[in-house]
Formats: sequence, C-alpha cells, structure tokens
Amino acid sequence: MKKMVEKELRVRKIKQGTVIDHISPGTALRVLSILGIMGKEGHILSIAINVPTGKNQSNRKDIVKIENKELEITDINKIALISPHATINIIRDYKVVSKEKVKLPSELKDIIKCINPNCITNSREPIKSHFTVENKEPILLRCNYCNIIMDLKDILKNI
Ligand code: CTP
Ligand code: ZN
Repeated sequence: MKKMVEKELRVRKIKQGTVIDHISPGTALRVLSILGIMGKEGHILSIAINVPTGKNQSNRKDIVKIENKELEITDINKIALISPHATINIIRDYKVVSKEKVKLPSELKDIIKCINPNCITNSREPIKSHFTVENKEPILLRCNYCNIIMDLKDILKNI
C-alpha cells in the first residue's frame, strides 16, 4: 500500500486561480474585504480559517483560494498591510506557476484614503494619497501631507 506522505488536504486543490496561503490566523475575511470580494461577484472561493500548520500543532494560518482569478500587484500590496507573511500562489492547470511573498512597500500611493477629513488629499484638489510606512508590525502609516498616523483599524475603514 502506498504510504501516506502527503499532508492532509483540508480544502481541495484548484485548477486555475490564486491561493493566498500563510495568512495571519483569523484575518482571511479581512483579506477578502481588502480585495473588495464580498461573495456576490460570483468567484468560487474556498476559505480556511485557523487551520494548524507546520510541525508545531499550535501554529495556525488562514488560506483563501480564488478560482479563475489572478491577483494583481496592487492587491498583493494591500494584503501585505494586514498579513505580512502571506504568500501568493498563482495556479495554472493545477500547478503552482508562481509563488511570491507579499511585500509591503515603504511608500503607498493612491491605495488608501487619509482619515483626516481636512487633509489636502480629501479636498477637491487632484492630489493622490501618499503614505509612509512608519511601522510594519503592527502596521502604522503616516500621511505625507497632513502627518496623521493611521493604524490597522483606520486602514481597514479607508482601504
Ligand atoms: N494549491 C492548490 N491548488 C493547486 C496547487 C496548490 O490549492 N492546484 C495550494 C496548496 O494547497 C497550498 C498552496 O496552494 O496551500 C501552495 O502550494 P504548494 O506550493 O504546492 O504547497 P507548499 O509547498 O506547502 O507551499 P509553501 O512552501 O508555500 O507552504
Ligand atoms: Zn492626510
């Protein structure tokens, strides 16, 4: 009999699309929200939350599989804001054709709105938002125009 060497598969493999793996435990739903995916768009989604990972059984991760959609770089940058260790696997014909760790750029342009209603980026001027990453974990962003500091809660409201 063939020895069972494969890891237990909690959610089945996909043929085509994106697997976001190693998401910080408990943040899968926020990842979907950041991507603007609410379910009604019709994507075939598989979500696993707080599943054991690695040798140490107390380690946990979340996984999101989005079939027939390949994520773009702006989406990937957004995920880095809330899940700095996530990996983005692009799947074609059941094979992982690319695997990349999300990367938080040191500057974020035109991705998040500033929470300060009086910030020039919220006036009618055509000025794009621009933030500098002050701290990665926990995430803190500073607006380059009004210097306000935004934490994760602020970011989630304005992304
Ligand atoms: N996956 C999938 N469908 C496929 C291929 C892979 O859903 N057709 C999923 C796997 O279940 C895994 C992720 O995509 O969650 C990455 O696959 P793979 O690189 O094969 O797994 P690992 O080697 O365990 O990845 P890592 O080293 O990044 O943990
Ligand atoms: Zn501002």
